[in-house]
Amino acid sequence: MALTDAFQRPLRDLRISVTDRCNFRCTYCMPREIFGPGYQFLDRAEILSYEEITRLARIFIAHGVEKIRLTGGEPLVRKDLDSLIAQLRATPGLRDLTLTTNGSLLRNQARKLKAAGLERITVSLDSLDDAVFQSMNDSGVPASVVLDGIEAAREAGLDPIKVNAVVKRGTNDHTIVDLARHFKGSGVIVRFIEFMDVGATNGWQLEHVVTGREIVERVNAELPIEPVGANYRGEVARRWRYLDGEGEIGIITSISEPFCGDCTRARLSPEGELYTCLFGVRGHDFRALLRSGATDGELSEFLASVWHVRDDRYSELRTAETALLPKVEMSHIGG
Ligand code: GTP
Ligand code: 5AD
Ligand code: SF4
Ligand code: SF4
Repeated sequence: MALTDAFQRPLRDLRISVTDRCNFRCTYCMPREIFGPGYQFLDRAEILSYEEITRLARIFIAHGVEKIRLTGGEPLVRKDLDSLIAQLRATPGLRDLTLTTNGSLLRNQARKLKAAGLERITVSLDSLDDAVFQSMNDSGVPASVVLDGIEAAREAGLDPIKVNAVVKRGTNDHTIVDLARHFKGSGVIVRFIEFMDVGATNGWQLEHVVTGREIVERVNAELPIEPVGANYRGEVARRWRYLDGEGEIGIITSISEPFCGDCTRARLSPEGELYTCLFGVRGHDFRALLRSGATDGELSEFLASVWHVRDDRYSELRTAETALLPKVEMSHIGG
């Protein structure tokens, strides 16, 4: 039976964060002052094993999940990720399996990931200008490394490839047209994301947000575009295609035009907490159940009880007070 929440939204997407670690320190996600040498990441014993993840995924699929996205932290820093992909791929009922990565480790892994059953991939890249990109990732990695990772993904046959760029006013907004131009005609779909107030450590301010409307205007002024309909109900990105037929871009407007009404996403943290909103304050502990010998029936009941009462719509309700809540970090539960 289809599981729906308090607003009749079904459960369709599961985003699984496989690690809270990352080899980047993007200032808008894992600022070095907080995620420095003394930061206590999860121990190995705390995070779900691939077998535990696959068991949960099977139960989620039985309740309507069709799409799984692996995230982190940086998912490619976790060992043998391809074996998780192979296990998930072998689960009947899964229609779409994908992954979000910073791309820095893709050159060595793209082929293995594809062979294990990964179909497509999303790579984060905020700017092609090294000074700008390095000021954002704060880890010295140049854009060329990520571009080479994208090339490796293409050679391996991962398709489509999407690029995520977070746009922050005064930081990289002057480079968005270059990024669009670079990938125009290549088949790679660039999506520009409004800087969001996720977590509690990234110093978000409204002045840093460049609205989707402004992004469209800036791109359109140099590379004419027109809107196109969504690929599927609840698609997060608004699509715009180049008038000359050379592909499309996407705009993700969580701040200026929230999309909670169609939100069918659940997020599983590395230690097995289920969050029903990206801006959640508290998760629901699946690991405790898993490790106390719960049956599949008991896990199913727990999932149903959590989803039935879900009434999250943070981006639509955003207020000065909710902005101050101790929200979970994006590096912990993934985008
Ligand atoms: P496709 O499956 O390729 O259509 O991608 P997607 O729509 O699932 O997008 P993706 O997972 O790449 O998400 C892109 C970005 O959108 C994320 O990194 C987040 O910044 C933002 N985003 C995704 N899901 C949500 C959500 O549920 N709420 C909010 N506020 N932002 C989201
Ligand atoms: N606002 C918008 N997007 C963000 N991401 C990380 N933090 C934020 C934020 N504060 C993006 C990353 C990556 C994806 C996982 O989420 O750039 O593409
Ligand atoms: Fe790492 Fe992605 Fe966060 Fe950057 S945005 S620190 S690459 S998890
Ligand atoms: Fe979904 Fe929460 Fe994002 Fe709204 S803010 S779209 S409910 S994850």
